[in-house]
Amino acid sequence: MVFSTIIVTSALKGAISLMGTGLWLVPLLIAGLSYYHYDQLDPESRPIDRYPLYSNYDFIVVGGGSAGAVVASRLSEIPDWNVLLLEAGPDENEITDVPSLAAYLQLTKLDWKYKTEPTGKACLAMKGGRCNWPRGKVLGGSSVLNYMLYVRGNRYDYDHWESLGNSGWGYKQVLYYFKKSEDNRNPYLQKSPYHATNGYLTVQESPWKTPLVVAFIQAGVEMGYENRDINGERQTGFMISQGTIRRGNRCSTAKAFLRPVRLRRNIHTAINSHVTKIIIDPLTMKAIGVEFVRDGRKQMVRARKEVILSAGAINSPQILMLSGIGPKEHLRHIGIPVIEDLRVGDNLQDDVGMGGLAFLIDKPVVIVQDRFQSAPMTMHYVVNGRGPMTALGGVEGYAFVNTKYANYSIDYPDLQFHMAPASINSDAGVQVRKIFGLTDEVYNTVYRPITNKDAWTLIPVLLRPKSRGTIRLKNSNPFHSPLINANYFSDPMDIAVLVEGVKIAIKISEAKVFKQFGSRIHRIKLPGCKHFKFGSDAYWECHIRHISETIYHPVGTAKMGPPTDPTAVVDPRLRVYGITGLRVIDASIMPTISSGNTNAPVIMIGEKGADLIKQDWLRSSSGNNHESVY
Ligand SMILES: Cc1cc2nc3c(=O)[nH]c(=O)nc-3n(C[C@H](O)[C@H](O)[C@H](O)COP(=O)(O)OP(=O)(O)OC[C@H]3O[C@@H](n4cnc5c(N)ncnc54)[C@H](O)[C@@H]3O)c2cc1C
Ligand SMILES: *[C@@H]1O[C@H](CO)[C@@H](O)[C@H](O)[C@H]1NC(C)=O
Repeated sequence: MVFSTIIVTSALKGAISLMGTGLWLVPLLIAGLSYYHYDQLDPESRPIDRYPLYSNYDFIVVGGGSAGAVVASRLSEIPDWNVLLLEAGPDENEITDVPSLAAYLQLTKLDWKYKTEPTGKACLAMKGGRCNWPRGKVLGGSSVLNYMLYVRGNRYDYDHWESLGNSGWGYKQVLYYFKKSEDNRNPYLQKSPYHATNGYLTVQESPWKTPLVVAFIQAGVEMGYENRDINGERQTGFMISQGTIRRGNRCSTAKAFLRPVRLRRNIHTAINSHVTKIIIDPLTMKAIGVEFVRDGRKQMVRARKEVILSAGAINSPQILMLSGIGPKEHLRHIGIPVIEDLRVGDNLQDDVGMGGLAFLIDKPVVIVQDRFQSAPMTMHYVVNGRGPMTALGGVEGYAFVNTKYANYSIDYPDLQFHMAPASINSDAGVQVRKIFGLTDEVYNTVYRPITNKDAWTLIPVLLRPKSRGTIRLKNSNPFHSPLINANYFSDPMDIAVLVEGVKIAIKISEAKVFKQFGSRIHRIKLPGCKHFKFGSDAYWECHIRHISETIYHPVGTAKMGPPTDPTAVVDPRLRVYGITGLRVIDASIMPTISSGNTNAPVIMIGEKGADLIKQDWLRSSSGNNHESVY
């Protein structure tokens, strides 16, 4: 997922982590962007960072990420309501706009820089046995750090949510909200009943492709899979990536949903505003406001109607627990008075895959750092919005396939591939190894010998893991990172499916169409797996446990479920059990993870969540003219 980086020089990298090492390419890029591109091609100006704030709002939205930006924008469509959006991070900048620089945003001040706790079962090739878990700390949230892949998940995911007792969340109902957001710019998809063209969120292909992605799609066809719109009628198949990009630039949710409404008088956005607590009246059990720190000053603001938590699957549970809502034994242990005993922070799920496969080739068609550090390439991007810098975080193609464990009687693949025209070696160890946190021993033994050689990769990703992790507080300090136990591979099926996935990846790489490139697998063994025969199931299991790669999709930590579900934190209208005036609307509410990348599903959750709020408040005040669509 991270290979876009290689098209940037190490000089650029230093500058991005921000700013000014004085090296020349970044100044050129930034000057070029602001001169040719940025204002001209992005007609909407930035949201206004509002001073001073009122002391009361109808709605307070905490977190301006993939979901929060949608919720705040949609609520402000009701002119009688006023809305405050509080975001801990700053605004986007010129670098966040460049798709190929996505990985360079990690480990900067725009990233919360989380790490998982070591378990001894996964992330073994990473420093300290801990995987990096980046999260956006910026207006637009993780939609500003992400690789922009647009994937909705499988219809059965949503039908399953509904079957758990979450009425209104079946595929038919959620499809309406996916389409409500979408502005699809691909001519061949615009007429599809599964897509729409007048939403806020621009979706399109990268204008740049390598011949390898074409081979990837052909290899799929050779193996009996179809080249199809995996966001359409059926999911199984191969496709050139669709992305949330606009005119070659990133289209974050802040850009899509907040910039067009910046002049509405009833929406206030406050950045650099870190929420530390929700204030709950213990007598009425109602959320009456929030505490936050802005410019080093602690403040409080009141909510007349509701507080909406959209701080993401790590921070929403953190804020709930800091406010006394969570597992009572844990809160007592930390010393936080318990207001409501709920299973907050449980049910953590993440898509995990195997990083580090490298297929070497003989033709110079892929991304290698040396070849791409030219001024002409930069200027082609700046002036035309084209060229390799528009690559979607480097992932050119994706596929959904069945391992032998999948249910073949329905269209419900259990494995996804991300195809990238580069591998860990391709940037000579500059950035990719750092954002993985790979140890020097692993990098130097396995990847240094093929530095700057042409290579491509497939990342097999487990859809619907069975393992469940947790988020817990380290202590009661709201500025300390919570403890993340991803608990990867605690269920042996999760490894078994991935081992099959690796074997399918190798078959794809051995398809006839790849012969013209001389494609062959890189065979140096990982130091920790030396004792296994290269290519055996045991070897792949060992590799998976070493280079366990998060696909950055943590969800599920404030689970949605019916009142009969003792593990549910919110009801199917996303209201926190036991508290009035408080909802969670973000990735945390997924009862089970969607099959694929999570940004589009989270935006859908934001759309539907905003409609649920409108229904609940407008029904009581003005009859039934705002009845739900379903
Ligand atoms: C590196 C990376 C690559 C990814 N690639 C893809 C991809 O290609 N395709 C895809 O579909 N998905 C991808 N994802 C996942 C996807 O982006 C997320 O699932 C989605 O953005 C989550 O949305 P959210 O609204 O739940 O949380 P977020 O978007 O993370 O938003 C939470 C917001 O709340 C703010 N916040 C947190 N705590 C506080 C606080 N205390 N006070 C105030 N504000 C706070 C945060 O700063 C942030 O802005 C990727 C994610 C990452 C990190
Ligand atoms: C496969 O899916 C069908 C249709 O939903 C279902 O009836 C069947 O039980 C499933 N089989 C397995 C092994 O899960």
